Amino acid sequence: MKSWAKIDGALADYVDDNWLRESPVKRRLREDTARLPQAGMQISAHQGQQLGLLARAIGTRRAVEVGTFTGYSSLCLAEALPPDGRLWCCDVSEAWTNVARRAWKEAGLDGRIELTIGPALGTLDWLLAQGLAGQLDLAFIDANKEDYDAYYERCLKLVRRGGLVLIDNVLWGGSVANLADVDTDTVAIRALNAKLRTDERVDLVLFATGDGMTCALKR
Ligand SMILES: C[S@@+](CC[C@H](N)C(=O)[O-])C[C@H]1O[C@@H](n2cnc3c(N)ncnc32)[C@H](O)[C@@H]1O
Repeated sequence: MKSWAKIDGALADYVDDNWLRESPVKRRLREDTARLPQAGMQISAHQGQQLGLLARAIGTRRAVEVGTFTGYSSLCLAEALPPDGRLWCCDVSEAWTNVARRAWKEAGLDGRIELTIGPALGTLDWLLAQGLAGQLDLAFIDANKEDYDAYYERCLKLVRRGGLVLIDNVLWGGSVANLADVDTDTVAIRALNAKLRTDERVDLVLFATGDGMTCALKR
């Protein structure tokens, strides 16, 4: 049976001790969010660190995030931007993003972030209508799963050649590999994974951290 390295127990502590770098604001946000029943929606600290490093590696100045929640991933992306950089955030929840707004301010990053409350498809279409096609460096998709394909297509239009479209939860707790699972979200993620497999517009890699994150580099 094929398997990938499982990191838990003492090895997970070792990984934290040796690789994890987390600002006090992000740590507090993670601890505060852990008290919410929906805390599982937050990306892990290591995945956040991956996001930040990827953003820096390609010199990201402009990015979009689809699904902000209490703000952890947006903090990781915003701190990777230059001071005049811009992160457009999309979410439907005022309550959760109010937590994010406080964290952005506390981190001194609020000036780089523009949040739009409303369905993300509308916000992405608005960005395209502003003439931003091909102008963004990075997109991170982490919202409702049934729209994943539509988010991907819009984000692929928005990013430049050499830009990244990152898609979270692509393993969906393993259910994508269970064909008997025909839940709407599972089917949507499975379909996008299959589409990307042969999508000649991008180069592709899976980061197996957390629930799996696809990294698509626009050709
Ligand atoms: C998995 S959480 C995002 C987690 C976040 N990236 C983080 O690291 O903390 C998904 C978010 O998508 C938002 N969402 C759900 N449906 C949406 C939609 N149609 N448009 C925009 N945001 C949506 C939810 O309100 C929720 O905050």
